[in-house]
Amino acid sequence: MKKEVFLTSDGSPSLRVEEIKETYHSRHGALTESTYVYIDKGLDYWINNNHKNELNIFEMGLGTGLNAYLAYVFSKEKNVKINYHSIEKFPLSEAELHLLEMKSTLPNAEHADFYQLIHSCLWEKAIQQEGFLFNKSKIDFLELDISQKFDVIFYDAFGYHAQPELWQKKPLDLCFQLLNPGGVWVSYCAKGIVRRTLEEVGFQVTRLEGPPGKREMLRAIKSI
Ligand SMILES: C[S@@+](CC[C@H](N)C(=O)[O-])C[C@H]1O[C@@H](n2cnc3c(N)ncnc32)[C@H](O)[C@@H]1O
Repeated sequence: MKKEVFLTSDGSPSLRVEEIKETYHSRHGALTESTYVYIDKGLDYWINNNHKNELNIFEMGLGTGLNAYLAYVFSKEKNVKINYHSIEKFPLSEAELHLLEMKSTLPNAEHADFYQLIHSCLWEKAIQQEGFLFNKSKIDFLELDISQKFDVIFYDAFGYHAQPELWQKKPLDLCFQLLNPGGVWVSYCAKGIVRRTLEEVGFQVTRLEGPPGKREMLRAIKSI
């Protein structure tokens, strides 16, 4: 699928896929959205609730690698050990990553070399950068079969209208199975049908204020 680079409102770049009429991030700020939804409302929330400095994160959709980079920065700045496992069915090509030029706009530029590593490291081969263990798998989430459990899930699929199959009971139940008790699922998505399905599979769901340009987002907890 052909992708076009565009600049979002906070100056960070993202991609648009014309064929499915979807963007990888919010037009109102890719960096702002990723930081707010996944880092603040997911990772930081889990840390504050659990008073631990070690956790496992699962990401559905590595894409540009922005969420993985921000989690790495969090790990360095807050001295938190993170085991980060991301999956991707349609990896970006080198040419697309080159056009995107995300690295030059990243915050905490002193860590920006890690962004490169996210894309240059091999699939299915974990890399350890001090307290950050990073692993990426080239796989379809709907075919995922792993026994490992996670504390936080960054659910960053394309929207419901573009990929309804990823917002149904089966994948959301898989998320529930992947989490440890007390685990947190976060997404930019705020659709009523998704909220009700999350509740149906056993989550306690909260509607939170969304990032700029979005009224709401969802956070779901697997109760202890
Ligand atoms: C909204 S984009 C977000 C990507 C990423 N988190 C980022 O910050 O750039 C959704 C991502 O999910 C990937 N994806 C779509 N369907 C998938 C599937 N069935 N399994 C794994 N990844 C998938 C897409 O290729 C895309 O990279």
